[in-house]
Amino acid sequence: MPSDDKTTVAKTKTSLSLPAPRRPTVALAVTGSVAAYKAAEIARLLVKAGVRVIPLMTRSAESFLGAATLSGLTGEPVHRTMWDAPGELHVSLAREIDALLIAPATADVLARLAAGRADCLVTALALVCDKPLLVAPAMHPSMWAHPATRRNVATLTADGRVEWLGPVDGQVASGDEGMGRLLEPALIADAALFALTPRDLSGLRVVVTAGPTVEDLDPVRFLSNRSSGQMGFAVARRAAARGAEVTLISGPVHLPTPPRVRRVDVRSAIAMRGALWQALGPDLSLADALVMSAAVSDHRPATPHATKQKKRPGAPTPPIELTDNPDLLAEIGHARAARRPVLVGFAVETDDDDALLAYARGKLASKRVDLVVANHASDSFGKGDNRAFFVSAEGHDAQGTLTKDELADRVLDRARALWARGA
Ligand code: CTP
Repeated sequence: MPSDDKTTVAKTKTSLSLPAPRRPTVALAVTGSVAAYKAAEIARLLVKAGVRVIPLMTRSAESFLGAATLSGLTGEPVHRTMWDAPGELHVSLAREIDALLIAPATADVLARLAAGRADCLVTALALVCDKPLLVAPAMHPSMWAHPATRRNVATLTADGRVEWLGPVDGQVASGDEGMGRLLEPALIADAALFALTPRDLSGLRVVVTAGPTVEDLDPVRFLSNRSSGQMGFAVARRAAARGAEVTLISGPVHLPTPPRVRRVDVRSAIAMRGALWQALGPDLSLADALVMSAAVSDHRPATPHATKQKKRPGAPTPPIELTDNPDLLAEIGHARAARRPVLVGFAVETDDDDALLAYARGKLASKRVDLVVANHASDSFGKGDNRAFFVSAEGHDAQGTLTKDELADRVLDRARALWARGA
């Protein structure tokens, strides 16, 4: 019968399908603070980053935040007590998760953690769980400063199990100011992501350039390009999250510095050159990999003016004369004796794929680099994702359309592999 046939096909498909790759999993425990509403934003950011978030709420947390908000954002039921599921929920959760994040954490939950209590699902889970335990306190500054809380924080710190995320100095719910405000949700989410990320680049020193360079004509006008810096910042962010020691040399962009990244801001190609050589060292021994994603201006005004040039009818007189900027990547490629550091360049073009690959192969040779990431300006500039090709001495491979973070991870995977085999 047709309907039975359909059922059979459906069943066969199900039994043959492979299990989905396991997502990193965090238990987000919310305790009873006015700042509990910020846990919704933390959950949202983690889910957006691909994390499975299992929400837990203490009884008092529910006075501040609706469970429906957390379960709606995470797609998971909210666990409130140890009796929410058959078996020993705290034990099964401890096995299931990769990290426990308590945010916000009240003075009360700190006291119970410090005493080793297991009087609710959150403290029982904290006791049984051997995964990273991240705690983001939030309370009135007087409670944070109280000797009892100081004692509890000292005990937990001495035990060495807790990674503290804040609190920070600022205004709290009552309007009072002081130490006790919850750390910004984006920073808490980032710390949780960091705790979940394998440190496979630990020990690697990576220098990244990003953004445009700006070449001043006078104090008001300049030559530049449309680079937003997103790709280079993604490389720096992912490298640091994976444990690398990262220096990010950036042209003028409107992007926040990724956590654990040393940032050097520059304006012109000449300033970027100075910062690069300082970061790499005169013998290039201070870095293991250079990812050159900056869109360096090829030219600069030959004579920048100290004062604003007044408009005159017709073409500027005297005409704006340009001079060549040094090719920073080629300069480093030619100075490199052994194939250290690993050199990754970018090629941005506006032609078709064949021309893009041909230009990229040309850059591989002329700049003496190990890998060229080739993409079209229309696929990359100012966009959240990118369609790129990797071009190396071995040939080229299409990476498809990826988010800039995903592409950054692939660039770093290739750089690490090249580094491991001495390029
Ligand atoms: N680059 C550099 N210094 C320059 C220009 C470019 O280090 N003065 C680097 C870029 O950071 C990038 C790579 O070289 O990694 C490719 O640059 P691209 O923009 O393609 O410029 P050109 O090599 O000058 O090629 P084209 O002739 O296409 O402009």
